[in-house]
Amino acid sequence: MEKFHVVVFVSLLVLLFQIVTAFRTQDGSEAWGYVQVRPKAHMFWLYYASPNRIQDPEKPWPIILWLQGGPGASGVGIGNFQEIGPLDTFLKPRNSTWLQKADLLFVDYPVGTGYSFVEDNNSFVQTDVEAASDGTALLMALFNRNETLQQSPLYIVAESYGGKFAVTLALSVLKAIEAGKLKLYLGGVTLGDSWISPEDFTSSWGPLLKDVSRLDSSGLEKSNSVALLIKQQLEAGKFSEATDSWGQLEGLISDNSNNVDFYNFLLDSADDPLSLTASELKQEVAVKRYSRYLHRLRSSPGGDGDIDTLMNGTIKKKFKIPENVTWGGQSDEVFTALQGDFMRPRINEVDELLAKGVNVTIYNGQLDLICATKGTNAWVEKLKWDGIKTFLNTTRNPLYCGADKKTRGFTKSYKNLHFYWILEAGHFVPVDQPCVALTMIESITQSPVASKVESHFPLVRT
Ligand SMILES: *[C@@H]1O[C@H](CO)[C@@H](O)[C@H](O)[C@H]1NC(C)=O
Ligand SMILES: *[C@@H]1O[C@H](CO)[C@@H](O)[C@H](O)[C@H]1NC(C)=O
Ligand SMILES: *[C@@H]1O[C@H](CO)[C@@H](O)[C@H](O)[C@H]1NC(C)=O
Ligand SMILES: *[C@@H]1O[C@H](CO)[C@@H](O)[C@H](O)[C@H]1NC(C)=O
Ligand SMILES: *[C@@H]1O[C@H](CO)[C@@H](O)[C@H](O)[C@H]1NC(C)=O
Ligand SMILES: *[C@@H]1O[C@H](CO)[C@@H](O)[C@H](O)[C@H]1NC(C)=O
Ligand SMILES: *[C@@H]1O[C@H](CO)[C@@H](O)[C@H](O)[C@H]1NC(C)=O
Repeated sequence: MEKFHVVVFVSLLVLLFQIVTAFRTQDGSEAWGYVQVRPKAHMFWLYYASPNRIQDPEKPWPIILWLQGGPGASGVGIGNFQEIGPLDTFLKPRNSTWLQKADLLFVDYPVGTGYSFVEDNNSFVQTDVEAASDGTALLMALFNRNETLQQSPLYIVAESYGGKFAVTLALSVLKAIEAGKLKLYLGGVTLGDSWISPEDFTSSWGPLLKDVSRLDSSGLEKSNSVALLIKQQLEAGKFSEATDSWGQLEGLISDNSNNVDFYNFLLDSADDPLSLTASELKQEVAVKRYSRYLHRLRSSPGGDGDIDTLMNGTIKKKFKIPENVTWGGQSDEVFTALQGDFMRPRINEVDELLAKGVNVTIYNGQLDLICATKGTNAWVEKLKWDGIKTFLNTTRNPLYCGADKKTRGFTKSYKNLHFYWILEAGHFVPVDQPCVALTMIESITQSPVASKVESHFPLVRT
């Protein structure tokens, strides 16, 4: 049992009493707690201080804020134990942890996700922008009273739906900083396999799968017709209907591809016991289908290393989570409440960040289907930012990792836009390609900890 002490403090913010509960291990390596971001809405956070921290006046020590997707998937659980945190789901050290390069802040975002919870069903957020307002309240509570944190640039790094959260949160954070309400330095925003433009992704699925032999012409035709319907619904502002059509399209593609895995199109859907047909797909089923995202990476359910067992058992005890809060217990409601915003694009928000000079980095796994590179390339081409033409015409550089000369990916940058194409990775890039992902995050955060493989990793940033 680890030693910890409890700090409970109450701070007066603009109009509300914000209650912050914080625990910290005695060695200071871990801190966690809840912030009441609104009445009846509680957000859980977990902070890891890096053992590699270097004091370098030229290069401040970075903090990574990881935002998971879903919406409704837990960063504290999935991102931390299954992707980039110091321990894996067997509580064994992860040698590729991003903690080597930066401090890590995991947040169960938005409220209702993971250990975060709401006290009544009207308190879930219904839009990305509402989520951003809660996220900003959390950062105010954590950063405003801590000068150490204020001296570190914060890099928001997102996966999947987390990308829509990241861009809206970053804009809200900048506004709060400008208004003098938040003491924080935003280092940049990173969009990993992010759901920024649902229309571009849904219309990429058919053509991509046809080209890699996973659909035939008839499957392509059916898929294209639903993708067109989605485009029309989005143009008409029918976002909720578009979410239903998206569920229908996923079902149709599953049927016509013999259940391709949406997170890696070279695989079969690993855990699809339901085997649904398109006609059986109703709205609730569509929600469940996507919320399988939450379980995609788990080992044998109930067995050693099972994420649900870990988070609802050992880790729940360690973090002193209230007895009546179940990890992920409100996740489905989080998704349902966001149904009307799920398909809304956030390309304009990326443009706004670029225009403000914020470093925006995009990375995408080559084999992802749900947020396919084909779709990401398509929305990037829609950016109105004045550097986009030159960016698109800039030559890419190959990426290597480790001793071999194998091509691991490509990257290019122009001004404050950066893109990494990661080869042989699906939706979960840090899981599929931990070496190149670690080198990439070192570069994004300009970590003072130099990589041992730097000489094999030429980076050009202008
Ligand atoms: C990290 O661990 C994995 C498997 O657990 C191993 O394949 C890899 O070589 C290790 N990497 C380093 C840098 O030690
Ligand atoms: C747990 O119980 C507390 C007080 O007993 C209540 O305020 C809170 O809403 C409950 N939380 C959940 C998730 O049910
Ligand atoms: C909130 O909704 C869930 C699921 O629909 C339901 O089980 C629960 O009882 C509701 N809670 C309250 C306080 O109404
Ligand atoms: C500020 O944050 C740092 C990094 O987590 C931590 O070590 C320190 O104890 C915090 N200070 C206070 C006063 O909370
Ligand atoms: C969480 O754990 C409690 C007991 O520790 C158990 O009663 C409950 O069923 C578990 N919930 C889930 C969803 O695993
Ligand atoms: C953006 O990143 C580059 C390094 O890639 C760095 O030189 C520059 O200072 C960063 N800009 C901002 C505004 O943080
Ligand atoms: C693209 O780059 C090439 C050189 O790399 C240059 O000759 C050409 O004019 C550029 N085109 C545009 C549209 O900028």
